[in-house]
Amino acid sequence: MSPLCIIYLIMNSADLFSHSFIKSLAQTYGTPFYIYDERGIRSNAKRFLETFSALSPKYKNFFAVKALPNPHILKILVEEGMGLDCSSLAELLLAEMIGVSGPDIMFTSNNTPIDELKKAKELEAKINLDDISHVEYLERHETIPDHICFRYNPGPLRSGNKTIGIPEEAKYGLTLPQIIEAYAHIANWNCKTIGLHTMVASNELDASFFVETARMMFTLALTIYEKTGVRVNYVNLGGGIGIPYQPDQKPIDIVFVARESRKHYDDLIKGTELDPLEIVTENGRAITGPHGLLYSTVIHKKSTYREYVGLDACMANLMRPGMYGAYHHISVLGKHKAPPSMVYDVTGGLCENNDKFAIQRELPPIEVDDLVAIHDAGAHGHSMGFNYNGKLRSKELLLGKDGTVSCIRRAETYADLFGTIVPVS
Ligand SMILES: Cc1ncc(COP(=O)(O)O)c(C=O)c1O
Repeated sequence: MSPLCIIYLIMNSADLFSHSFIKSLAQTYGTPFYIYDERGIRSNAKRFLETFSALSPKYKNFFAVKALPNPHILKILVEEGMGLDCSSLAELLLAEMIGVSGPDIMFTSNNTPIDELKKAKELEAKINLDDISHVEYLERHETIPDHICFRYNPGPLRSGNKTIGIPEEAKYGLTLPQIIEAYAHIANWNCKTIGLHTMVASNELDASFFVETARMMFTLALTIYEKTGVRVNYVNLGGGIGIPYQPDQKPIDIVFVARESRKHYDDLIKGTELDPLEIVTENGRAITGPHGLLYSTVIHKKSTYREYVGLDACMANLMRPGMYGAYHHISVLGKHKAPPSMVYDVTGGLCENNDKFAIQRELPPIEVDDLVAIHDAGAHGHSMGFNYNGKLRSKELLLGKDGTVSCIRRAETYADLFGTIVPVS
């Protein structure tokens, strides 16, 4: 049987935690591997789009490609009605690879070189600029786009959140006076669409934060109109809707976000010159995050001042715990019912002490060869991987909606790793 495609009849989302199923995948493909659940992704995407259509009939989510930049997954999301939010040339090329172009692409730039902006213009993407100086930059390079947008940074007006930090310390976006100047300047660019964007939260679970962002942006759209006469066609409220990584956290109430934001729309925008104003977002994590897992095998145990279990995955496969101290739930296959009677640091094999998937975590007793699931790894997981210590990034598998498992990205090889080195004479 081809290792790229195995049929498991009747396999479904719950089977992603089945010991025998995962063991057979581990035997076929080897660990570590990521696995994504197509059915979960599709039904979550449907629910998300349906809920936010209460906010605006033309609502669209531009999936943040950086969260899960695999064209097999992007294709699924586009089929469900999403656009793509790209932030780099590679992400634009991925969009192009699956036939997405035009205003279905939001290109959110920051400190971006001209060749990337030119490619975005060639694809007729919505180009979202991050600084007032980029207006002159585009003019100088004769790259005035058909679709323009600016990213607003509210500075001291918003408190920010834990992951993204406070807006005044963030490198992104234009200040209020710069925003006004930017729209006044591009008034004669004759763009087909003009947007207004912000992104002030990351992995936020407080629903009211997003409602406040919607209010802030509706108010700003009105201010821009009053001060410059420019009528923005849409506001992009950014991404950042969080997911409950920790077992005691609750999912964000997106019904509340859509309903309460709509109330602000009705109060502020309805009946004005800006009505109808399209509303879009660019969430990534909330769409695919819960539907991906990283599976790894325990290769060592170590007992010193603490108890350690060492995995065959490392921070190069999933950076979030080491980088942000982020929590990812861990379960040990076949031991779901065993009491968590041990306390472990769960480590990778990088020569870095922060290469830990969990610190002082209560878990059932673990043995070498156990299979470990690292949960909620479907966004900003594989994509943040890197090659420190020459570690190779793992493969990605997809449990398809028909129960088929396919390999949608092979693991890196040493030929890939050393392919850029000029041979030593
Ligand atoms: C500009 C922009 N948009 C959208 C996102 C997606 O964020 P999330 O996946 O948390 O929704 C990010 C995340 O880094 C971002 O920088």
